[in-house]
Amino acid sequence: MTTIRDVAKHAGVSVATVSRVLNGNGYVHEDTRSKVEQAIRELNYTPNEVARSLYKRKSKLIGLLLPDIMNPYFPQLARGVEDEMQENDYRLIFGNSDESKKKEMEYIQTFIQNNVVGVISSTNDPEADMYQDLNIPVVFLDRTSNDRPSVYADGREGGRIAAREIVRRGSKAITLMQGPANVRPAQERFEGAAEALAEQGASFQVLKTTSFSLSRAEGFAQEVFRRYPDTDGVIASNDILASAVLKEAHRLGKRVPEDVQIIGFDDILLSSLLYPSLSTIHQPAYEMGREAAKLLIGLIEGERMERSSVEFSVTFIERQTTRKVES
Ligand code: RIB
Repeated sequence: MTTIRDVAKHAGVSVATVSRVLNGNGYVHEDTRSKVEQAIRELNYTPNEVARSLYKRKSKLIGLLLPDIMNPYFPQLARGVEDEMQENDYRLIFGNSDESKKKEMEYIQTFIQNNVVGVISSTNDPEADMYQDLNIPVVFLDRTSNDRPSVYADGREGGRIAAREIVRRGSKAITLMQGPANVRPAQERFEGAAEALAEQGASFQVLKTTSFSLSRAEGFAQEVFRRYPDTDGVIASNDILASAVLKEAHRLGKRVPEDVQIIGFDDILLSSLLYPSLSTIHQPAYEMGREAAKLLIGLIEGERMERSSVEFSVTFIERQTTRKVES
């Protein structure tokens, strides 16, 4: 059976050129077009309609790549993306990179092979070639890039709020947990908290951590009290770490918030179910997911986007792991 490759060879052009002639899209010089059409006639080539219809029918598949599905923060992002895509008749292919660049690259390949028309990614490496080389729209979500379409929360302000709240509620020996060095939001909230603590003249110590994950949280929590047994306030890098600090405080017989106050970051759904319930910085993950989807659909459908970067504000959620403010 004559293939599109035979036609290209016979006409002395590339397969892509033959495909452009067949699908009537993209630029083809008149002379080249007539050479291709002559080759199609001479070889009696009939295009594979299924492939062509597949090619012509615009895919409505989107690739969504998140770093850690075991962390309940990311499904909230994913749910926002999915709802917005669903309402616009797009479908998702989901990938979990486990914070591994190798898995991330593999998923980008899978997305391309499945003909996605756009990608939403929460990545520690937005400048990587795998994104630069993509010739489809990409929106970065939560973990973003300075010069590519991005949706994120004001992590710096979140860190500042946590610092202000823990000081005005009476903590004097504060431990600030610094999240993974290669995770941009982790560094922004850490810098915001450190600068606000310094501005208030508060004495604080830093515990560097290398992961946001559930599997490492308890180890870091034990390290907080092993290194700083007299700490009376912990600003955790996310709610998972804060939950582990709460458990460790209890294990050591410390009363929360009387002996030690704890503030998390994210406001995952579980935070209100802990006992005592976790005071934290709320990131509007669901809304951020929706916004990223809106932005990507606009880019795919060639709409003129007012903003290619959207920053969401964060808020302090006062619950039971912080002391009431003396009015
Ligand atoms: O908990 C996971 C963290 O990584 C979140 O705080 C979020 O900002 C993400 O980047």
